[in-house]
Formats: sequence, C-alpha cells, structure tokens
Amino acid sequence: MLPPPPPVRKAVFPVAGLGTRFLPATKAIPKEMLPIVDKPLIQYAVEEAYEAGVREMIFVTGRTKRSIEDHFDTAYELEAELTAARKSDLLALVESIKPADMTCVYVRQAKALGLGHAVGCARTLVGNEPFAVLLADDLMVGRPGILTQMVREFARLGGSVLAVQDVPLEDVRRYGIVSGRSHGERTVALDGIVEKPTPDRAPSRLAVAGRYVLTPGIFDEIASVPRGSGGEIQLTDAIAQLLGRESVYAYRYQGRRYDCGSKLGFLQATVDLAREHPDVGPAFSDWLDTVQPSEVSQ
Ligand code: G1P
Repeated sequence: MLPPPPPVRKAVFPVAGLGTRFLPATKAIPKEMLPIVDKPLIQYAVEEAYEAGVREMIFVTGRTKRSIEDHFDTAYELEAELTAARKSDLLALVESIKPADMTCVYVRQAKALGLGHAVGCARTLVGNEPFAVLLADDLMVGRPGILTQMVREFARLGGSVLAVQDVPLEDVRRYGIVSGRSHGERTVALDGIVEKPTPDRAPSRLAVAGRYVLTPGIFDEIASVPRGSGGEIQLTDAIAQLLGRESVYAYRYQGRRYDCGSKLGFLQATVDLAREHPDVGPAFSDWLDTVQPSEVSQ
C-alpha cells in the first residue's frame, strides 16, 4: 500500500483583485473585507481553513490590501481598552480572529496576471507540500466545512481535489468546467478541465467552486502554462497540464456556496447568515417573515 499523503498545513488566499464589481464600496476597502452580517468574507475563508487543520495562512495581496493584514494582527489599543473596560466577551471575540497556533504570511502579487499567477507567487512559501487554495469571494457553508471534506478526500485519494457543483448550462461561462469519470459517490476522476467555456463547448455542467487542494506539482505547470482566458495565467489551465502527470479529482461538496463576488450572491448570503446568526437571527427572521414581497420592492 502507498503511504498516506502528507497533511495539508498551508492555505493560499489570493486577495490581490481590485473588486471592481463592488465599486464604489471597494474603492478604498478590499472586497475581501466586506462583511456578511458582522464578519469579513476573508475571515469566513480563514476559519474554514483552520477547521480543516490548516495553520499557515498565506495571503497573496496587492496594493490597498493593508486592512487584511491589520485584521489578522494584534490590535493593541483595542485590546487594552476592552481589557480596561472588562469587556471580556468582546476581547475574546477579537483575540479569536487569530488563534495563537495560526501563522499569517503575506506576499505581494505585483501584477494582476490572473489566478494561476497569484497562486504561483506563493511557491517559495508553500514549498514541496500539498496546500489549499481558497477564493474568499466564494462563501462556503457546510458541516463539516467544505475544505474539511476536501482534505479528507485528499487523504483518501492522494491526488489534487477540486470542489465542484452542478450549474445551469447558461452559467458555465463563469467557471472552470471539468470532465471525467465517476470515481465513487461524490468524486470524479478528471480527464479534462477548461476555463469559462461557452455553453456549446462545455464538456459538462460540473463547475469548479473556489476551493482547491493541490499537490506542489502544480507550481511547475503554472510556471510553464501560456496565457489563457482573458489573457491571464489561469489556474485551470495549469491543472489541465497537471492532468498529464498526476491524477486530479473533482469532489461534489456537501453544503452551500454563495458567490459573494456578485451583488445578488452577497445579498443572499447576508439574508441566510443573518437568519442563522446566534445574536440577531431570531429578531431578523421574525422581521423578514412579516415583510411582504411587495413591501421589500417599494
Ligand atoms: C475563478 C476560477 C474559475 C472558478 C471560479 C470559482 O474564476 O478561474 O475556474 O470556477 O473562480 O468561483 P473567477 O470567478 O475568479 O473569474
């Protein structure tokens, strides 16, 4: 029998994008810092990685992203004030953003050359071990968390694992689309993957969501892959190349995904998570139940 693959200890968060779909909100604030109820998008993704056993968070940042670093740093004045005011609940909340055993590392993506390029910027920090990639725009909700499910699949299969879901045919042009053969209840062994195909060229309706567990072999592919869709270095194209050398799997995750890179998805996430929120949830649900559809649109 083959030895089990090494554990997934590191995660890469590409956060250098400009967030133009959310202007003017994102003129001075990174889109990853937009909150769903009371927590920024990036914190949801980091918590998902932490739950999956990841302890080293690698952020691929750009200019204007300093608030992400501040968010995961100690806020000395705030913590001193909360201590003096004996607000221990709030202090615990602030301190829990970065548990003591979690490390945050930052690397700049100097040019916006695409998702593959962003992941490539983390190469020396990741080194020669498997790692996760989480796109914070995609807010994923599941029990256990989606990345926890994927790390388990990786431990079982030993090859890279991509989170996938079925999408309507008219939406395939927004995603990486995979093809392959069934390899168990929720898993597909990939034989192809293509970035943002038109519906007539899509090999299936199975779309990649923003979660990946990748072997370090991906870095050589990123370094050699030509520019693809949108003139960018695409992670999808690098994975297509990797398929020539390694097995890659798609995993139908159990849970929900909100495309918080779009206004509609962002609002849906806000309503659903507000309903479930331990503090504001009951009152918000009561209010929502009293609002007639016509009143909302007025
Ligand atoms: C990226 C990937 C795409 C994937 C998607 C998931 O696209 O390139 O393959 O399906 O994330 O959200 P983006 O949404 O950044 O254009």
